[in-house]
Amino acid sequence: MALPSLARVPAPPDPILGLAERYRADPRPNKVNLTSGVFVDDSGTTPILATVVEAERRLAAAAASKLYRPIDGELAYRELVRALVLGEGHEAVASGRALATQTPGGTGGLRVAADLLRQTGSGSTVWMSEPTWPNHPQLFASAGFKVRSYPYTDPTGRRIDEAAMLDALGQASPGDVVLLHGCCHNPTGVDPSADLWRRIGDVVEERRLLPLVDLAYQGFGDGLAEDAAGLRELVRPGAELLVSTSFSKTFSLYAERVGALIVVARSAEDAEAAQTNVKAAIRTNYSNPPAHGADVVRTILSDPELRARWEQELAAMRNRINANRGDLVEALDARRIPGDWSAIADQRGMFALLGLSKAQVDRLRDEFAVYVVGAGRINVAGFTSSNLSPFADALAKVVAG
Ligand SMILES: Cc1ncc(COP(=O)(O)O)c(C=O)c1O
Repeated sequence: MALPSLARVPAPPDPILGLAERYRADPRPNKVNLTSGVFVDDSGTTPILATVVEAERRLAAAAASKLYRPIDGELAYRELVRALVLGEGHEAVASGRALATQTPGGTGGLRVAADLLRQTGSGSTVWMSEPTWPNHPQLFASAGFKVRSYPYTDPTGRRIDEAAMLDALGQASPGDVVLLHGCCHNPTGVDPSADLWRRIGDVVEERRLLPLVDLAYQGFGDGLAEDAAGLRELVRPGAELLVSTSFSKTFSLYAERVGALIVVARSAEDAEAAQTNVKAAIRTNYSNPPAHGADVVRTILSDPELRARWEQELAAMRNRINANRGDLVEALDARRIPGDWSAIADQRGMFALLGLSKAQVDRLRDEFAVYVVGAGRINVAGFTSSNLSPFADALAKVVAG
């Protein structure tokens, strides 16, 4: 029997991964890829972390079985991740009202969260920042959510329009889900101040909203605890919250698909009940998680010496990204490209928005083999000593018109 005709209509390419495919197919030797959020070192490659290599050596030596893992992952992994995100001594950890589940990457965590909320009737409208990671709206829409957006930055794209953001959230209905980026906002690189996190917490509390925090870059901004401080502000006594976290970038385990969903409920009893629903959502999707990535993360986080070395590797990645930000601003200023670029140096995480038109983005790609996303979202981690100057030269020409 033939497939239904709809299946023969090609789906539109993914806004980011589709571009990365075009980049791979481009034969020009000096092409520059600033599309997907992937860390590269100065040689342009994405290395396996030394601590990951060591953890894999230990795991290979001890490997005994490929048995199925529990639906929500191994307990040791779940507890380590919960402490990493919420903090070792946090009340929600000590009371048992926060429970973590292993998921296939951060995307898997978001999808399990969306399915959990739909299947339990806990939420049907989700509010997300404009702009946001392009996979957010399509993921939540495909899970059956109504997607609304709240304004995030002012027209410069360099500062949060706090009043407009809080005003929009003030119009959300009780029970609506509010999606927030835990740190290193994708695509703007602009994060809320501690004071704004407090005020977001107040609106969430007053309007009885449910925050869902997407934490894909913990440790890429200012540090492990610093980057989780905002979401921890939302974990107020008795408050409910979901966090989806990812180790794709921070352990450089992209292809291993490892992350977690943390559900913070009102009480330990509620958390246990929620966990049965998390497991039901997973069982009808991918049944149970892959083992390897989580075993690597557990091995590193549970060994004090390996963990300390991983924190150093993480700091080295963070420092490189932040140094790239400074170098980029210098390169743009040196070419006197019109615009105030200085804010890029103060932003955090892998991304910055250049605020380009579609025609400028197309010209960068077609004429100069420079690949950037949408309105000029660039992966700042993708700059190396050999591609920064050609990029800045190309941008100067494109902006000059
Ligand atoms: C904001 C945001 N959330 C989630 C993810 C998903 O990461 P993963 O590869 O772990 O699914 C990404 C990856 O780019 C991201 O930028």
